[in-house]
Amino acid sequence: MKVKKLFIHTIGCQMNVYDSEKIVERLRPLGYVADTRIESADLAIINTCSIREKAEQKAFSFLGRLAKMKRGRPELIVGVCGCVAQQEGRRMIERMPHIDFVLGTMAIDRLPAAVRKIEAHACRIVDTDLSHQIQEIPSISATATSQEVSRFVTIMRGCDNFCTYCVVPHVRGREFSRDPEAIINEIKSLVISGTREVTLLGQNVNSYGQKQHLCDFATLLHQISQIDGLLRIRFTTSHPKDLSDDLIAAFGSLEKLCSHIHLPVQSGSNEVLTKMKRRYTRERYLERVAMLRDACPGISLTSDIIVGFPGETRKDFKQTRDLVEQVEFDSLFAFIYSDRPHTVSRHFSNKVAEKEKNHRLQEILALQSHITQKIHARLQGTVQEVLVEGYSKKQMDRNQGPHARGTQWMGRTSGNKIVNFVPGSASVLDKDIALGKMAHVEIEKSFPHSLWGHVVRIGSGRSRAKGNKCYAA
Ligand code: SAH
Ligand code: SF4
Ligand code: F3S
Repeated sequence: MKVKKLFIHTIGCQMNVYDSEKIVERLRPLGYVADTRIESADLAIINTCSIREKAEQKAFSFLGRLAKMKRGRPELIVGVCGCVAQQEGRRMIERMPHIDFVLGTMAIDRLPAAVRKIEAHACRIVDTDLSHQIQEIPSISATATSQEVSRFVTIMRGCDNFCTYCVVPHVRGREFSRDPEAIINEIKSLVISGTREVTLLGQNVNSYGQKQHLCDFATLLHQISQIDGLLRIRFTTSHPKDLSDDLIAAFGSLEKLCSHIHLPVQSGSNEVLTKMKRRYTRERYLERVAMLRDACPGISLTSDIIVGFPGETRKDFKQTRDLVEQVEFDSLFAFIYSDRPHTVSRHFSNKVAEKEKNHRLQEILALQSHITQKIHARLQGTVQEVLVEGYSKKQMDRNQGPHARGTQWMGRTSGNKIVNFVPGSASVLDKDIALGKMAHVEIEKSFPHSLWGHVVRIGSGRSRAKGNKCYAA
């Protein structure tokens, strides 16, 4: 079979990263091999995100680049997948003559058939049918090429929460949880191919299994933690309203569960939270944070914040600032509110001026940067258990392979902090360090987005006593 080159550009959240992996997998039997050079691609796919206006604009500007390319190479097949594809559907094909297919968020399984059709008949295809979500989410089978130490595994799709600002329920459809057995089998096959850490994905993993009366999320975590060879479990995202006592307790008892939780608060003002339809209060959020810290001292906490929600006053914003100061998140994603199609809040009055929204963003980012640096500085001199995930960015930029002199490695702490490191100590050699191993790294320096250190010991990752897993980062 002729080898054909597939270029895929992914914008958006981990769901899209996972879907892109699936796209590569599904197109392999048709002879497509993933390639990073767009210039020589036979098929170029953009996997799009619609969460904010900017993300959508990114997709359209990339499509503009592809239009130019296709003028020079008319045989290039151009496809759009993901959330903008779901949202815009036929309109995209009508607006942009260079697009061959638009496939929505539930259509990845039908992608091979669509590509085959286009190759044979040079036709154009639109498929934004969301009704297929009732079926099992097809899993990625482990292959010789999927050997990353850390992989995403989707455990549920869609969302039923309809926060008033959010496009996700409109582009990803209703919440649907995968069968626990299918998830466990997928993780087992990933572990066989070299994976040591999984991040379980869902828009609201805390409500896993409830709707279909499967097991709850804490039970699923217990089951996954029994998989031999798997060293770490992460998950994202948690909705504060559904954060159960059992899940909080799991942080204290499950050795493989990393001591990090991403718990988006969105706002520190009860008025704004009500208008957002988040269904928790500032007080309830703070209470959950206290319980998490109680169950797992030192747990790393990260969050999302929207600034400039319609009607957000300076006083509301100050309450968000105060909450950020009080909680001291390890890091924060802050976003400027933008109106999205189909959402309720786009019709709200009292929109905040762009200039003011920008100002609030800068304020919150500056505050968080100060907090993050303070937390990182506290880690200097401590020894952190790090899963070796790859080579540091600097090493990759230098284009050097493993065990080149002075190899710089990269991994993350249990609290999800990036650590770049070298063997450092005389008793640890370059060759002792390998992808997928646990390393104990002494932190020498801290930076705003990472830590730097040297290995003092290569460990199995099982050095901590049960019930005493939460410490430092
Ligand atoms: N399911 C996750 C969030 C997914 S979207 C949750 O509920 O926490 C990721 C983040 O994008 C959200 O947490 C929110 O902070 C941000 N976001 C969503 N819609 C937005 C909008 N219209 N404008 C700005 N930010 C938005
Ligand atoms: Fe969007 Fe809210 Fe669902 Fe998160 S929980 S995906 S913010 S609607
Ligand atoms: Fe974006 Fe869709 Fe994810 S809108 S954030 S890619 S679910």
